[in-house]
Amino acid sequence: MRTQVAIVGAGPAGLVLSHLLHLRGIDSVVLELRSRDYVEQRVRAGVLEQGTVELLQATGVGERLGRQGMVHHGIELRFGGRRHRIPLTELTGRSITIYGQQEIVKDLIRARLEAGGTVLFEVEGVRLQGLASDRPVVSYRHGGQDVELACDLVAGCDGYHGVCRDAIPAGTLTVYERLYPFAWLGVLAAVAPSAEEIVYTSHQRGFALHSMRSPELTRLYLQVDPDEPIERWPDERIWEELQTRLATEDGWTLGEGPILEKGVSAMRSFVVEPMQFGRLFLAGDAAHIVPATGAKGMNLAIADVQVLAEALATWYRTGEDGLLGGYSAACLRRVWRVQDFSAWMTGMLHRYPDDDGFQRRLRRARLEYVAGSEAAARSLAENYVGLERV
Ligand code: APR
Ligand code: PHB
Repeated sequence: MRTQVAIVGAGPAGLVLSHLLHLRGIDSVVLELRSRDYVEQRVRAGVLEQGTVELLQATGVGERLGRQGMVHHGIELRFGGRRHRIPLTELTGRSITIYGQQEIVKDLIRARLEAGGTVLFEVEGVRLQGLASDRPVVSYRHGGQDVELACDLVAGCDGYHGVCRDAIPAGTLTVYERLYPFAWLGVLAAVAPSAEEIVYTSHQRGFALHSMRSPELTRLYLQVDPDEPIERWPDERIWEELQTRLATEDGWTLGEGPILEKGVSAMRSFVVEPMQFGRLFLAGDAAHIVPATGAKGMNLAIADVQVLAEALATWYRTGEDGLLGGYSAACLRRVWRVQDFSAWMTGMLHRYPDDDGFQRRLRRARLEYVAGSEAAARSLAENYVGLERV
């Protein structure tokens, strides 16, 4: 088998890349470990920067997003029992849209298959060979057959736990990493959202987040200990803790409903440099992870593949490899800006086990500054709605 670009992973990075390449007349094959059902049902991120929305709409995969996405013009910061709105649109002229990552994945898979694209699910044993040559080969097992896929380049879009990053020879990559001393317990509840905008709460018992997926579905998160067993969080305890952390002085109430889904996710910051080795280009979570507090992971993954698609198009059209050679550096500039923003948001809103009174007061001062100063709020807003794209 042969293709121009072999793409490992059918998350937002791999699927958007395959779609953008198709629009530029470049052929690709997407290889996904999980089943189609699994990737389409997996509940993940849900906040889209305006730049992400514009890209999906401009490339013909934003129709349902336009109908069902919830456009938001602000977010709320809650602390000391008070609410403070950050008017994103007033401060930046831009907005964000809430639309589940798995909905984007569904829209893109459908678009790729309707256009005659190849997206293979339940692909096992992916191995990359010849990355330092100009004839890489991806071998894998699919439908009981061993396959060798010859290609010009490989895009490693297989997430943090994927195999592509590990195919790069030891010592080639520099890894930068921070683990946070807490995790997020996330739930999806069948109840109308209790607030019109996303609420980020700093409470002495820990961070809490109120978000949503639709007028009938609320998405909520609680800061918990790292590796917290989910069994320790029966539904009643989750609601009780959310009620405590989200409570305000002005009589706001949190509606409760059946919990449809719950899970604990670690919080980490992670970057590898460079995001390329020979003919392998890493994109999205395969190359970097941000803590979820800034809502940036999916947007960053999509921004990477926009740069990669552009560079590949130029390379195929002209044979010039300048843009492709600059892929990693171009992405890493955005990655580090977003890492800083995500770490800053995380630090401002969470409780740390080694907190002393000094650190708690600094955090409170930071929150009050953002809530009270237009300059500080604008800085948060400009990062939150997202930096300019290519
Ligand atoms: N072979 C093939 N596919 C694989 C392999 C493998 N060995 N390992 C992982 N995959 C698949 C996963 O099943 C997943 O569908 O690669 C895909 C990677 O997708 P994501 O994890 O969604 O990563 P990415 O596309 O970079 O999107 C980043 O995902 O984790 C969230 O918050 C993060 O929103 C961000 C987004
Ligand atoms: C979500 O809706 O899942 C969400 C919102 C904001 C975040 C993280 C996740 O910062």
